[in-house]
Amino acid sequence: MSVVVIGSANLDLVYEVERIPVPGETVLSRGLASFPGGKGNNQAIAAARAGAETRFIAALGRDEAADALAAQVRDAGITLLDRRVDDPTGTALIFVDRKGENSIVVNSGANAALVDLTEAELAEIAEADVMVVQLETPLPTVTAAIRAARAADTVVVLNAAPSGAFPVELLGEVDILIVNEHEAAELAGEPAGTGERSLMSVLTSHGCDVVITLGSDGAFVGGHGTQPVKVAAFPVEVKDTTGAGDVFVGAFAASLDRTHDERSLVEATEFATAASAIAVQRKGAGPSIPTLKEIKHLLAS
Ligand code: RIB
Ligand code: NA
Repeated sequence: MSVVVIGSANLDLVYEVERIPVPGETVLSRGLASFPGGKGNNQAIAAARAGAETRFIAALGRDEAADALAAQVRDAGITLLDRRVDDPTGTALIFVDRKGENSIVVNSGANAALVDLTEAELAEIAEADVMVVQLETPLPTVTAAIRAARAADTVVVLNAAPSGAFPVELLGEVDILIVNEHEAAELAGEPAGTGERSLMSVLTSHGCDVVITLGSDGAFVGGHGTQPVKVAAFPVEVKDTTGAGDVFVGAFAASLDRTHDERSLVEATEFATAASAIAVQRKGAGPSIPTLKEIKHLLAS
């Protein structure tokens, strides 16, 4: 499969804390590390390591962070189509607590300059089997990319993360929507805590297939007018969930069959569930992304 990812690249600054501070509180960190990250970047690397021929369209600054990100992308064998702009490369401030849960603040920086897709970028979208987009990129770019992919019969995978304003009427142009429970509720316009079955029926009614990731409960796959299917998670010890959702999305895109029929959706979900189970056992987003060999090994165990 060939995959094109359009999206964000950030330098992640990860603070390890006992627990995430509440407003007005100061806590001491046990350590600080920086890693390559950004949802688009993590997803592109996950797709490439999972075996897909991958292209990544991104906007970077003219700084050291950009060079480090570009080097990691190229090391993964990805063709990088980057714009270098005057704004600094995006950064993410990440707190990871004792249980491996996180809280993240992103400064978009250069990512905000990923606008007005060029002819060359549109051609990459048209040529790929699958296109992956998320919501750390300006919405007009996301919607233009979706329309271009649609017109060229490229399978559209939307990871509606972080949750925010995505026009639900555009879900009909998306082939597969991947969201966690929080993002699913937000997009469906339902209160937090709404069960995954109701969320699934609201979201699939817009005409796309849907995968709702459920963390340690696995994932829920629906669409095609059939009964949704639950895919179990692998029981693992969680060290850091940062980027695990991105690993899921990238691995999913890499293993998806072009027809994306029901069986292929479930198989890609199983594959992606294994990939993210490996990622949560390791620290950092970029460094935690597994290879095809590692994913196959877990699936065979
Ligand atoms: O999904 C995890 C990612 O979100 C991090 O790598 C961070 O950069 C933010 O984009
Ligand atoms: Na991780």
